[in-house]
Amino acid sequence: MDRKIVHSNVTVGENGHLFFAGADTVLLAEKYGTPVFLLDNARVRARIREYKEAMQMNFGESSVPLFASKSLSFKEIYRIMAEEGIGTDIVSSGELFTAVSAGFPMERAFFHGNNKTDFDIQYAIENRIGYFIVDSMEELLLIDEYAEKAGIRQKILLRLTPGIDPHTHQKISTGGVDSKFGSAIETGLAERITKAALSQTNIELCGFHCHIGSQIFEIEPYITAAEIMLSFILKMKEKFGFTAKILNLGGGFGVRYIESDPEISITKNINAIGAYIRKKCAETALDMPIIYMEPGRSIVADAGMTLYTVGTVKEIEGFKNYVSIDGGMTDNPRYTLYQSAYTVLLANKANEKADFSCTIGGRCCESGDLIQENVLIPKPERGDILAVLVTGAYNYSMASNYNRVTKPPVVVLRNNTEKLAVRRERFEDLVACDI
Ligand code: LLP
Repeated sequence: MDRKIVHSNVTVGENGHLFFAGADTVLLAEKYGTPVFLLDNARVRARIREYKEAMQMNFGESSVPLFASKSLSFKEIYRIMAEEGIGTDIVSSGELFTAVSAGFPMERAFFHGNNKTDFDIQYAIENRIGYFIVDSMEELLLIDEYAEKAGIRQKILLRLTPGIDPHTHQKISTGGVDSKFGSAIETGLAERITKAALSQTNIELCGFHCHIGSQIFEIEPYITAAEIMLSFILKMKEKFGFTAKILNLGGGFGVRYIESDPEISITKNINAIGAYIRKKCAETALDMPIIYMEPGRSIVADAGMTLYTVGTVKEIEGFKNYVSIDGGMTDNPRYTLYQSAYTVLLANKANEKADFSCTIGGRCCESGDLIQENVLIPKPERGDILAVLVTGAYNYSMASNYNRVTKPPVVVLRNNTEKLAVRRERFEDLVACDI
């Protein structure tokens, strides 16, 4: 088991089967059926610890990652985050409910979103959410109102847009002035909302937040973001005598999906951001705020794998070959949405020559339901097990029931045992809300 594929938790066994986190994927497919999501518990925890150690080394004990649970949300995930002593970023009352159901400590939860409803605000306050990350003036005033009714002083951060282009897919770039998120520094809105937040009696402004985008491989955009945010913090200190206690730099570190993608070092990235922040704070005599980050993808992506069963193999002579699987855009809409690259393998023929060029199609009645185009795998037959690597982030969490396809289960692999964390949906679940 020495040949690793893309990541060290993916190897090929002597029996020619693909192994994930030390487990034979062909046996797992037999046991749980397909499609199935696998999650490598040790990898998730290792990534969390890497973030935590690097952040605490650079920014002090209070600095921890806040897992962006939009990337993967079910009860077991929040239990893992709670056990590891980190925080979480949630974006809906549904994620909040899931976290509460798992016993996640709400004081370590941060509520995001550009359009929190009145219900969201009340529900989060009832559950004593740690912080709201406030996206607009309207929301600020509503939170003040509901906090007053609840008789509490609500902690908040303000989400700002620093106005940077992080060179990623346009649909996942969020830090520019033209964004539905946050208040722009450039237009003066950030300053006005800070002033307003400071004058609300039921709100405690603790600091600022920015998130520049997702799947970012370069470090420069983070340094630029830190620079802009620290300059803003200084300006607010001078103007209003307000010292921000917290600076949250968001998530977004890139992840390797295919061999040709770079692999970034979380520790090195954080060290670089840390060195810059310490220098800037020293130069400007600013007390270093507590630094938070909100990684999602870089914690769970390479801890995930999806297994499918091959169905129809269609060879269109002189044109191309289609290999259809028993899942698709309903469990992984990322190719359809962003043309995301993935590594695809035949799990039961992992040592065979990959010389069959094909497009992997999902099972939905939709031509765009593809998982990957023009990949090379060994010539497949009906019944083979097809593995798609690095599916831990934004796959299960973006799954749908289009065509009334049931969602796959999630099996957590740990220390040579498995735990079913989410069972497979049943047909009854599909009609559970139908009256
Ligand atoms: N913080 C905020 C405010 C965010 O909006 C996001 C992601 C994160 C943190 C986490 O970013 P990450 O570390 O995971 O890159 N569905 C898309 C990704 C959307 C990202 C949304 N926001 C995809 O599948 O690529």
